[in-house]
Amino acid sequence: MSTLTPAEDELATPRVGIGPHLLSVADLGAEGIAEVLRVAEAFAEVERRSIPKVPTLRGKVVASLFFEESTRTRLSFETAAKRLSADVLSLAVASSAVQKGESLRDTIETIEAMGIDAVVLRHRSSGAPAQVARWVERAHVINAGDGWHEHPSQALVDCFTVRQVLAEARGAEPASLGVGCFEGLRIVIVGDVRHSRVARSEVLAYGALGAEVVLCGPSSLLPASLEGWPAKVAEDLDDAIAHADVVSLLRLQAERGSGSFVPSLREYTAGWGLTAERVRRLPPHAIVTHPGPMVRGVEIASDVADLPAVVATRQVTNGVAVRMALLFLLLGADSALEGLGGARG
Ligand code: CP
Repeated sequence: MSTLTPAEDELATPRVGIGPHLLSVADLGAEGIAEVLRVAEAFAEVERRSIPKVPTLRGKVVASLFFEESTRTRLSFETAAKRLSADVLSLAVASSAVQKGESLRDTIETIEAMGIDAVVLRHRSSGAPAQVARWVERAHVINAGDGWHEHPSQALVDCFTVRQVLAEARGAEPASLGVGCFEGLRIVIVGDVRHSRVARSEVLAYGALGAEVVLCGPSSLLPASLEGWPAKVAEDLDDAIAHADVVSLLRLQAERGSGSFVPSLREYTAGWGLTAERVRRLPPHAIVTHPGPMVRGVEIASDVADLPAVVATRQVTNGVAVRMALLFLLLGADSALEGLGGARG
């Protein structure tokens, strides 16, 4: 197994403490977000090796608890933990004692009694990770998506990807773009904002890095109040995307009842979907992000989904490096920070 090269080691040396938990993008602030992106660059290098594995978290145990469906986030966190040489416990909720009526608290306490170091938790209830963080004694809790509330690691992946594209366009190293690097960028978040935990985390993350954030969707699928949201609303999608640097598409959250907020899927697509006709309105440099899973033919036309401007696959690739950085900063950075005289945030 290879180790970090001196250059990667320098990149991965923590300068800002994060934690003890990651429940919301607000836990990080602009400096914390920049730190995650900086450290993720080191792990992106590891990802490009023939054997993309380092011993950094050897001896640590990461528990993966997904009470809601997931493909990307679960596999990405588990891959990230394994690439850092942590042991991974993956609870299959459908065949666990949860089905016999065991409570979330008892489940967490049972798992913590096995000596785990981190819980990566997805739950349908907003606030479940914050509640778990109050119950655990020593484990770090990472929110992998809670109800409509937040999906912080997804927003960090999206920031990493946008910064990567921005750096390529400028012929610069991504690591050279720090806090405030999105100043002057207009990011338009389109679709079911009301039910989207990704949108909530993106608004905080993009805003913290200096972007102008614009929300666009049917009024029934926008938040009831924008108080506390550092974002504005655009009513005309065609006009909004014509001036966008980044279009962040959201899935219509059928499992949260979004279908009853629109007259029909066909009308939703006609009004708010990224069709081939609409994509022609985008500025030539603009990119389209999608956190996945993508529903082709609803929020995005199938032929549009495969255009080079759509960076969804790149987001998935970057997800592993960003989650390696999060696990490293939460689990592996304590001693290094002590060495620097630093303190946890
Ligand atoms: N983006 C996202 O959370 O995807 P999964 O539901 O597949 O994890």
